[in-house]
Amino acid sequence: MKETFYITTPIYYPSGRYHIGTAYTTVLADTIKRYNQLKNKETYMLTGADEHGQKIEKKSKEANKTPQEYVDDMAEMARELWNKMDIQYNDFIRTTDERHEKVVQKIFDKFMEQGDIYKGEYEGLYCVPCETFFTETQLVDGKCPDCGREVVPMKEEAYFFNMKKYEDRLLKYYEEHPDFIKPEYRKQEMINNFIKPGLEDLCVTRTSFDWGIKVLKDPKHVIYVWLDALTNYITALGYMSEDDTLFKKFWPANIQLVGKDIARFHLIYWPIFLMALDLPLPKTIFVHNWIMMKDGKMSKSKGNVIYPEDLIDRYGLDATKYFLLREMPTSQDGLFSPEEFVQRYNFDLCNDLSNLLNRTISMVNKYFDGQVPEYNGTPNDVDEEIEKVCIEQIEKFETLFNNFEIANSIQEIWKLIARTNKYIDETMPWQLAKEEQTEKLKSVMYHLIENLRKIAILIKPFMNETSENILRQIGITQENLITWESLQQYNQLKNIKVIEKGEPIFMRLNTEEEMEYIKQVMKK
Ligand code: ME8
Ligand code: MG
Repeated sequence: MKETFYITTPIYYPSGRYHIGTAYTTVLADTIKRYNQLKNKETYMLTGADEHGQKIEKKSKEANKTPQEYVDDMAEMARELWNKMDIQYNDFIRTTDERHEKVVQKIFDKFMEQGDIYKGEYEGLYCVPCETFFTETQLVDGKCPDCGREVVPMKEEAYFFNMKKYEDRLLKYYEEHPDFIKPEYRKQEMINNFIKPGLEDLCVTRTSFDWGIKVLKDPKHVIYVWLDALTNYITALGYMSEDDTLFKKFWPANIQLVGKDIARFHLIYWPIFLMALDLPLPKTIFVHNWIMMKDGKMSKSKGNVIYPEDLIDRYGLDATKYFLLREMPTSQDGLFSPEEFVQRYNFDLCNDLSNLLNRTISMVNKYFDGQVPEYNGTPNDVDEEIEKVCIEQIEKFETLFNNFEIANSIQEIWKLIARTNKYIDETMPWQLAKEEQTEKLKSVMYHLIENLRKIAILIKPFMNETSENILRQIGITQENLITWESLQQYNQLKNIKVIEKGEPIFMRLNTEEEMEYIKQVMKK
């Protein structure tokens, strides 16, 4: 039986079009899913929409729709974008799905019966857009610490979840499971900012609006968004339903991805809910940073928002995904700028990758009529190092990728590309041809094709089309030559013929024109 691999993205608020920052989480999840699929695991990826709450109710009124109509349209829009981005999600959960609502009600009742939830009164400062209560000390300059907007005092009857009860268990869990939170510094942040000052009980119902899941035994209360939202990761698998096959198969999740703004909810409340349900916790929760613009956060009012569709339509999906993944460091925010985008395209994709392919194809055609010479597996003096570098780079890639240092892992692939280009300059095949050093020339051509094959496999999780294009051009069609295991082989290519005339996979962009284009679509 195959090893299973369950990965989740947050469920998105249907509050408007998704910009490249929001799309990042899902691109990242898709990449990690595809990588694990290549490694022969049975993967399952969940994404979806977080459709309840006061904010959505307000949005739908603005749009002159019922909340249900509004969220239906938005879910359709989300699915269209994920299709356009070739995201291979297995399920799209919506918190308005009956399968979800019924189970959330059951979970609520269970918590009530266990004494984890009690009735009280909430008094606090509330941020409407974020649907979050804050304490005085959490505010930044008297405003919402998450979005910077005004908070308003609010008081109402409400149910609470007793978080304090689980505080020690949570800390102990953090300590005993070093892989639970990644990157590591997020754990310290949670401990210092939220746990050490004393966990506050979480308000889990509201009475001031009704677009939400009703508490069965007290229907003037609707379940407040985080208890509703977080449980999607298990209701989607059929937890507490008639058919919990998927739940049994895939829970606990291998990895759950979240952006830094929702780290607190996933690193504190979510594990505590799971403990209260007596369920195992996900193996890893990975917190990624944000994609920022030169002038700060993306916002419509600043006119600095960039949408994935605009980049994809002009530069292709692979270039767009390459940029997003390559520019997001693990330790700080990533930066989007038109300059940087065009430069990465021209340098990394065009000069480095596309040229390596073209030079190789044209030499194999010129010197051997397109037939890739065979190789007995014994490197000569110039080949020994390139083989070693190749193995090392694959190892480095895997180590970094497995630790979710995706941008760094991609850099290791590009080091291999650069080294392979340098190998051409060092071995000077044109000179070898002139001197009729045929054996050496054959070996150089073999190694170039072999490295291209490996590069194509390595980029497959995030540049699938480019990967297939490279493999087609170098004449690799056999299934067993495009598996992850085949990255370890260096002498299996037999009877391979490259295409007669190489086709550039990325064409050089005119820097000024394209910067202008990107700036235009940002203002639109
Ligand atoms: O938070 N760069 O949904 P959401 C990178 N419904 N990531 C970004 C980003 C940026 N500029 N802007 C947003 C919610 N994100 C809740 C989740 S889960 C049970 C409930 C990320 O639509 C953000 O960090 O506001 C989050 O991971 C995702 O987009 C969806 O955000
Ligand atoms: Mg948000």
